[in-house]
Amino acid sequence: ARTVARGADGVVTVGGVDVKTLAEQHGTPAYVLDESDFRARARAWRDAFGTDADVFYAGKAFLSRAVVRWLHEEGLNLDVCSGGELTTALSAGMPAERIAFHGNNKSVAEIRRAVEAGVGRIVLDSFQEIVRVAHIARELGTRQRVQIRITVGVEAHTHEFIATAHEDQKFGIPLAGGQAAEAVRRALQLDGLDVIGIHSHIGSQIFDMSGFEVAAHRVVGLLKDIRDEHGVELPEIDLGGGLGIAYTSDDDPREPHEIAKALTEIVTRECEAAKLRTPRISVEPGRAIVGPTAFTLYEVGTIKPLDGLRTYVSVDGGMSDNIRTALYDAEYSVALVSRASDAEPMLARVVGKHCESGDIVVKDAFLPADLAPGDLIAVPATGAYCRSMASNYNHVLRPPVVAVQDGGSREIVRRETEEDLLRLDVG
Ligand code: LLP
Repeated sequence: ARTVARGADGVVTVGGVDVKTLAEQHGTPAYVLDESDFRARARAWRDAFGTDADVFYAGKAFLSRAVVRWLHEEGLNLDVCSGGELTTALSAGMPAERIAFHGNNKSVAEIRRAVEAGVGRIVLDSFQEIVRVAHIARELGTRQRVQIRITVGVEAHTHEFIATAHEDQKFGIPLAGGQAAEAVRRALQLDGLDVIGIHSHIGSQIFDMSGFEVAAHRVVGLLKDIRDEHGVELPEIDLGGGLGIAYTSDDDPREPHEIAKALTEIVTRECEAAKLRTPRISVEPGRAIVGPTAFTLYEVGTIKPLDGLRTYVSVDGGMSDNIRTALYDAEYSVALVSRASDAEPMLARVVGKHCESGDIVVKDAFLPADLAPGDLIAVPATGAYCRSMASNYNHVLRPPVVAVQDGGSREIVRRETEEDLLRLDVG
C-alpha cells in the first residue's frame, strides 16, 4: 500500500506528490504521512482479527483528529492514555464506547471525565486505582467496564525502557505471589465495576512471538483460577501492542494476519486445555500501524567532514522531532530524495541543530559524497513516537504532519510557530 516511488530524475514522490513540492508548500522539517497507507494498515489489522476480536489503535504512537476519523471509518477502536488523548479522540467523534483508557497514574479528574463520557473500558493499573475508579463510578451512579492490567513476568527482548512485563517496573499488578488474583477478587466485590477481563502488554518493537505465547499462557491461567475460585469466566483478554516494524533492512516484521492467527491459536489452545470458553481477544498496535506510514523530510544544512572519522550532516530538525535515537539507541536509515546521484557513498552521521552532542538522528548511514546544503533527505519509519514525543528543546518549533494522498497534500497538524511559543510564555 506504500505509495513511495523514485522518478527518473531521482526525485521521490509519495501519494503522488514529489518531495520538492512538499518542501516548498509545507517547509522542512516535516513528517510526511501517507494516508492511504495508514488506512490500508489499519484495515489489514481490522480484517486480520475479524469480528470476533477488537483492534485498539494505541494513540500514544501518534494521535490527531484526522487519524481518529480515519480509525473510526476503518472500524478500529482507540487506546488513550491521558486526558489530552481522550479529548482529542472525543472531539474527533470517536464513540466513547470504542475507547480504552490506560495509564498508571490517571488523575481523579481524568477518570471522572472518562466515566462520564462512557468509555468502553478503563484499564486498571493498581490496587488503589481499583478502589478509586469504583468510587467514582458509584458517585456518578454508574458501573464502569474495566480490565485489570497484570504483569506476567515475561522478559520481552527489546530495549529496557520499552519493556513492560517484567516485574520491576511501574505498570500493572504482578501475577507473582497471587497479587493479580487478589486484585481481581477485590474488583469483583466492588459495586461500580464491571470486570470484563485481563490486560497484558509485554513491551514494544517485538518480533519474536514467544513472549506473547508465555503471556497468553499465564493470562489464561489466571482466568482459570478466577473461574475456579469465583465461578466467573471473564469474557475478554487484551494482549496489548508491541509488534515490531522495519526501521532498517535488518528488521523483519510479521504481517497482521500472521500475528492474529498466532495469537488466536495460542489463546484458543490454552483455553481448551483449561476447559474455558475462549474469551474475546483484543490487541493494541500503535507503531505497527502508523510507524511505517510516515517519513521525516529534512533539508541538509552544514556538512562537516571529519578526517578519518565520518562526515557530520546537519539537518534543520533533530532530537526535538525524533528523540528515539538518543533515548533508545534506535536505528534509522536515510536517503537523498530530491535528486539522483551517482557519487561514491560516504559514511555519514545525520545530526540535528540542537545544542547537544547527543542530538543524533541517524547514527551511521551512507549518503552520496556530493551531498550539498539544500538537498532534501528523508528518514523513513518515523510515523510512530516521533511527532508524539516531539519537544520544543532550544525553542525549536515542532514540525507539521503533512498527509499526502492522490496527488494532494494537507497539514493535519500544522507547524508550530514562534507565536505558539510566546503564547505559553505569560511571565
Ligand atoms: N498498549 C499499551 C498498554 C502500551 O503501553 C503501548 C505502548 C501500546 C499498546 C502500543 O505499543 P506499540 O504497538 O506502539 O509498540 N516510546 C517508545 C514506545 C513506548 C510504548 C509505550 N506503550 C518508542 O518510541 O519506541
